[in-house]
Amino acid sequence: MTADAGLPGAYEGMLPADLVLVCGVFGNITDEDVERTVDFCARSCAPGGAVLWTRHRFAPDLVPQICTWFEERGLTREWLSAPESEFGVGVHRLTGHPTERPGPAPGERLFTFLEPA
Ligand SMILES: C[S@@+](CC[C@H](N)C(=O)[O-])C[C@H]1O[C@@H](n2cnc3c(N)ncnc32)[C@H](O)[C@@H]1O
Repeated sequence: MTADAGLPGAYEGMLPADLVLVCGVFGNITDEDVERTVDFCARSCAPGGAVLWTRHRFAPDLVPQICTWFEERGLTREWLSAPESEFGVGVHRLTGHPTERPGPAPGERLFTFLEPA
């Protein structure tokens, strides 16, 4: 399908999912948008489902904070690429209860890509 991936409505009828891929996104958006998108990915997982995500390791390295954001939402770190790799790749699985925080408001965007520097 072709859709704006930053709009939660684009995923209607697909969730919850056993596998959520968010690749090539976290390195192109603000930290605030990353946290909002982590939250949406976490709540998009079926019980036992996993999120596979990527983020570059350039300073400031946000990978540890992304792990924390997933883990605060009941997902367990299943795999993380080595810190010396240029790219961060992680797999977090929903092993706890889904988050009870409120989800995005109607029409709220998850993220907007930043213009290249
Ligand atoms: C860094 S590339 C990653 C491509 C692929 N997911 C990967 O990991 O190889 C980011 C892609 O997201 C697209 N993109 C940017 N904003 C988007 C949006 N709101 N909805 C869907 N795609 C978007 C860009 O045009 C670009 O093709």
